Amino acid sequence: ARPPNRRRTGPSRRRAAVNPTFQVPSAGADLISPYALLRGAREHGPVIRAALPGADEFWLVSSYDAVREALTHPDLVKDPEDPEDPEGPADGEGASGGEGSLPPLDELPEATRARLAVPTPDHTALRASVAQYFTPARVGALRERMRADARALLTAAATDGETDLVASFTFPLPFAGICAVLGVPGRDRPRLLDLTREMAPGGSDPDRADGAFMELWHYFRELAYRQRKSGPSGDTPTLLAGLVDARHGGHRWSDEECASVCLMLIIAGHEPTANLLGLGALLLTRDGSLIEELRTALDRLPGFVEELLRYDSPVYPGVFRHVVRDTTLAGVALAAGESVLVAVGAGNRDPGRFPGPDQFDLGRSDVRHLSFGRGPHFCLGAPLARVVAESGFRELVECFPGLRLSDSNRVQWRTEYLRGLLGLPVLLRPLR
Ligand code: HEM
Repeated sequence: ARPPNRRRTGPSRRRAAVNPTFQVPSAGADLISPYALLRGAREHGPVIRAALPGADEFWLVSSYDAVREALTHPDLVKDPEDPEDPEGPADGEGASGGEGSLPPLDELPEATRARLAVPTPDHTALRASVAQYFTPARVGALRERMRADARALLTAAATDGETDLVASFTFPLPFAGICAVLGVPGRDRPRLLDLTREMAPGGSDPDRADGAFMELWHYFRELAYRQRKSGPSGDTPTLLAGLVDARHGGHRWSDEECASVCLMLIIAGHEPTANLLGLGALLLTRDGSLIEELRTALDRLPGFVEELLRYDSPVYPGVFRHVVRDTTLAGVALAAGESVLVAVGAGNRDPGRFPGPDQFDLGRSDVRHLSFGRGPHFCLGAPLARVVAESGFRELVECFPGLRLSDSNRVQWRTEYLRGLLGLPVLLRPLR
């Protein structure tokens, strides 16, 4: 989730009588222990005015029911370039979309990196082209491979005694998963992982991030070109092989479009899962009995992952939407042009929906969290995320039941709008 685009969220034409405006800190400790903050917001109402320092106000949606309503609301759209949006596309950032409309490579604006969403007219076509590669049956076939990868990563990390689990495990594992789905050759993965780390917020300076973005984009364009030349191979075509062959509106995706899609998928397909693995690993270091419980009842792993998604969502605080026409949400009037932060992390902790929401409860009976979203943009990769997370946690608790933090002062949190860890120093103690 990204904060609202400042240039697009001018003063709203109409203000509801909702007071006071809730101040959201932009970084720092409140984002590390954010749930008290969100609880405070929810106590003002399910839909309230809120503000970030230096940015325009927006609506903050924080109850479970209002979050669900917002995610399927016909007047709230995700893509600000949606042609239905009365404000139209933002200046200079281009209404990229449709066959051949991507700008030449060296003219791709920096902002593209942050906005690598395929525009709305292509959204349905894109989902239709790639969804089949993320079905539970399809990604379920990766389970054994993910477990083997997890075991290999952890074994390699354990030889050093102390390891930063983020660098050695929580990022490389989901990265291997999405690369397998896309069809990225194994030999290219270490370099690509380095490049995506350079692009990640907090991971690099902006110039290196831009360079990394361009290098990745070039890489995928070349890969698409070579895939098209070589034609399909094997019984189970990779996503890229399917994409270069797929038709939408009577056309094939161009190499440039394939590159943009792959780039979007490789980032969306590993970062949140990496954050989930990191948050879960931290939880396990703090509660040895949880490790023991899982180790002795491995069939509880899927429940562990679902409760983790509810308890500590990587998409904190949530996803943004744009109001395309005057409307109401949970009975509150919203005006066209306004921005809405749909705080799934808050909905997941709504006491009206989940009793004792601030407790991690492995035995919780109904864990229908909102962490994969809902409605037309429901997470395409949810089955893959589940397979990767279950495989990773399984190997972690089976091989290293003595997992513990080596230095709590060096746990490093992300402080922008994704919840997760940048550093997690642990001791991996093998089986006793
Ligand atoms: C969309 C969360 C893993 C691909 C979303 C959305 C959420 C989400 C909340 C909805 C965004 C919105 O409504 O604005 C997560 C979480 C993950 C995860 C918590 C891991 C724990 C993955 C993986 C992939 C993936 C592994 C694989 C490629 C996508 C894509 C969309 C999406 C392509 C956009 C779907 C659309 O707009 O139609 N994800 N995701 N995600 N996710 Fe995930």
